[in-house]
Amino acid sequence: MWTSIVFLALVAMAVMAVAQPNPGRVTGDISVHDPTMCRDDAGTYFIFATGTGIPIHTSTDRISWTVIGSVWPDGAPTETNQFTGTTNGDLWAPDCTYKDGTFYLYYAASTFGSQNSGIFFATSPSGLPGSWTDHGLVTSTKAGDSYNAIDPNLLLDGSNWILSLGSFWTGIKEMALSPSTGKPSSSSVTSLAQRTANNGAIEASVIWKQGNFYYLFTSWDNCCQGLNSTYNIRVGRSSSAKGPFVDQNGVALTNGGGTLVLGTHGSVVGPGGQDLMSDVDGTILVYHYYTATTSLLGINRLDFSTGWPIVV
Ligand SMILES: *[C@@H]1O[C@H](CO)[C@@H](O)[C@H](O)[C@H]1NC(C)=O
Repeated sequence: MWTSIVFLALVAMAVMAVAQPNPGRVTGDISVHDPTMCRDDAGTYFIFATGTGIPIHTSTDRISWTVIGSVWPDGAPTETNQFTGTTNGDLWAPDCTYKDGTFYLYYAASTFGSQNSGIFFATSPSGLPGSWTDHGLVTSTKAGDSYNAIDPNLLLDGSNWILSLGSFWTGIKEMALSPSTGKPSSSSVTSLAQRTANNGAIEASVIWKQGNFYYLFTSWDNCCQGLNSTYNIRVGRSSSAKGPFVDQNGVALTNGGGTLVLGTHGSVVGPGGQDLMSDVDGTILVYHYYTATTSLLGINRLDFSTGWPIVV
């Protein structure tokens, strides 16, 4: 009998290890794409996401969300138009950081499949619509470059500001920023992750420092196709923000490595476009996924107690 109980316990643990939890409960305005989350000193949660003018959702409990407007209610900065090919076009994959009473926001302007792309920077004391100061272009790419200047993510690592970015072509890159300008402090670009499978589909990078490691999260495969989306969230880690990052099997992320964090499971299709945030109850993963044609907000806690992130 005891052997069968031990056996059943082992089976249960094995099942638990591979089971992927569903998104935590959220309500209200939960239609988002490429969400990023911040919490201000008053405890209000802000989500910024892909869309015209960068939509802003807020919440007081991280469950119930309301759209309160956009970062650029009077139209996107005109400098973005050369990349979106229109006035007030879609702005992509913002990345929010809140520190000492200031919201820092990086976001991209581009069109699907194009390397004519720019990353832009804005700040705000409140995060509210109309409160944002445009600091202009941070970095850009054009056709023929080796990567694509989209999907920015800022890591504040002590006094160092580090921007990761990129997708497809030769993959995910990193550059150092000047903390006083929020713009590149040199022309040096470091390669962090690259794959050749599925046309090199890797994007949405996040570098996250937890314990003794820096973790590089990315989204693999295809976004933006409703229930045909194959997006999935991958990770590697390093003892340095500059890499080299390796996955749980020791495969370099510059050589196609990446351990699965969250993929399609059950009715949850194509989770990706993720961001991480430190909250009172731990490290939070925020992402989008599909159950139909519209992408929805996913929020889960990440458990790093094994040294590798597990969605809980
Ligand atoms: C999904 O794929 C099918 C088959 O290729 C196609 O007919 C359909 O339009 C696709 N749906 C979306 C949302 O891309």
